[in-house]
Amino acid sequence: MSDGKILAIDDEKNIRHLIRSEFGLEGFDVTTAGSGEEGLTKFNQDKYDVVFLDLKLPGMDGIETLRQLKRQSSSTEVIMITGHGEIGSAVTSMKLGARDYVTKPFKLDELLRLTRQVLQDRRSCAGDDRFRVGAVCRGDDKTIVCPSPAMTKIYSAVKRIAPTDTTVLIQGETGVGKDVLATQIHRSSARSKAPFIVLDCGVLNQNLAESELYGHRKGAFSGADDRKRGLVEKSHKGTLFLDEIGNIDLDLQKKFLRFLETGKFRRVGETEEVQVDARIILATNIDLYDAVRKGRLRKDLLYRMDVVSLPLPPLRQRREDIPALAAKMIELYSDGPNAVTIAPETMDILAAYHWPGNIRELRSVITKALIFAEGDVIRPDDLPRHLAHDQHGAGRPLKTLEEMEKKHIIAVLAETGGNQSKAAEILGINRKTLYKKIHKFKIFS
Ligand SMILES: Nc1ncnc2c1ncn2[C@@H]1O[C@H](COP(=O)(O)OP(=O)(O)OP(=O)(O)O)[C@@H](O)[C@H]1O
Ligand SMILES: [Mg+2]
Repeated sequence: MSDGKILAIDDEKNIRHLIRSEFGLEGFDVTTAGSGEEGLTKFNQDKYDVVFLDLKLPGMDGIETLRQLKRQSSSTEVIMITGHGEIGSAVTSMKLGARDYVTKPFKLDELLRLTRQVLQDRRSCAGDDRFRVGAVCRGDDKTIVCPSPAMTKIYSAVKRIAPTDTTVLIQGETGVGKDVLATQIHRSSARSKAPFIVLDCGVLNQNLAESELYGHRKGAFSGADDRKRGLVEKSHKGTLFLDEIGNIDLDLQKKFLRFLETGKFRRVGETEEVQVDARIILATNIDLYDAVRKGRLRKDLLYRMDVVSLPLPPLRQRREDIPALAAKMIELYSDGPNAVTIAPETMDILAAYHWPGNIRELRSVITKALIFAEGDVIRPDDLPRHLAHDQHGAGRPLKTLEEMEKKHIIAVLAETGGNQSKAAEILGINRKTLYKKIHKFKIFS
C-alpha cells in the first residue's frame, strides 16, 4: 500500500516530473495532470488523498479548478503551488478551502513535510477519506489551550455543556479550531468512550447516498446484499459531529430535521423507525441566517440547530493567543521546549498579521519557519514575506527613528558578539559615539 495518493496538477513538465519521481521514492502514488481540465477528469476517475494544484494554469485557472474540486468533494485536501507575487490569490484559495500553499521555487522537503502533516491530520481524525469517521479522534496531545479572555470564556462554556446532551453549534471562520473544539466536547463528555462520528455535510450531498447515512435493509436496492447500519446509527451512545452543516443539501434537510428533533430515522427500505441516542455537534463557517435568507437552509432547521452556540472568534480578534500558540507549536514541532525561540521582531510580525486562515495558517507558518530557520532562533526572514507587509492587519505602530536606531545597534552588537569597535565600524560611527548611544539607550543595562 502506498503512503497516500497524490494528484499533481501543474502545467510545468519539470515540476510534474520532479514531484512524480521524488514523491514516488518516498512511497506515494502520484498521478499528474498538465491542466485544470485534465486534473478534474482524473480526479473524477479515482480517489486521491491530496491534490497539489498550480495557481497559474492555462485554460481553467487554479482558483476555478479548486472551486470545482471542492464542489466534487469538499473534504479533499488541496495544497496550492503559487508563484511570487501571487500571495493574494494564495490567500483567496485558503478561503476557498485549500489547506495550504507553497511558493515557487519551493523546496521539495517543504512540500513533503506539508503533505505528511495533512495526511497525519486526516488520519488522526479520520477513517474513510470521503467522510471522516473515527472511533475516537486522537491528536489532543497537540491541542493548545488558548489564554485569551474570549477563549477562556469558551472553555468554561464547554465545561458546563460537555456533560449535558445539548446540541451545540460551533461557528467560526476556517481554521479557528472548530473540529478541535468538537473533539474536546466529546472527550470531556460521558460519551468519550463511545464513537465520535464525523460527517462532512458538504460531501453528503453528492457522494454520500442516503443509505450510507441511514443504512438500508437487505435487498432495498440492487447491490444491497446485506443489511447495513448507516453512519447515524453508528454514532449511537456517542457523538455525531456534523461538519459544514451550512452545506447540507436542501433535499436532505427535512429528514434531517426530523432526526434532530426526535433522534429517529428510517433505514432505506424499512418502514420501522430506529431510535438513536447521539449527542449532536454542528459546525459551520458560514452565516446560517444568511443561508436561510438565500433559501439554502430551512428556517425550521436553523432554529432547531441554534440551541447552544459557541462562536469561535477569529485569531485576529484574540491576538493574545498568538504568542502562546506560536511558542507551544514550536515546542511541539521542534525538539522540545526552548530548542528554538522566536525573536521579538518576529513575534511583532506574527502578532500584527491578520491570519485569514487562523490557527491552521499559524501552524503552517510556524512549521515552515522551522524549516527555514538557521540556528535556534526564528527571525523575521524565516517567515513568508507577505506577513510583514500585511495590509489588513491592525498595523504595527510606526517606530520612531530612535527606536529603529536602538534596534539596529542591538542587532549589530549581537552580530559582532558585543565587540564595540567592530560594531562602530559597521555602523559607520566612531567608538565614542557608539558608547554614548549604548549608554543613552540603556542597551547593556
Ligand atoms: N487549540 C488548538 N491547539 C493546537 N492546534 C490547533 C488548535 N485549534 C486549531 N488548531 C490547528 O488548526 C488546524 C485547524 O483546526 P480545525 O480543523 O479544528 O479548524 P476548523 O475551524 O474546523 O477549520 P475548517 O473550517 O477549515 O474545517 C488544526 O489542524 C490544528 O492544527
Ligand atoms: Mg473543520
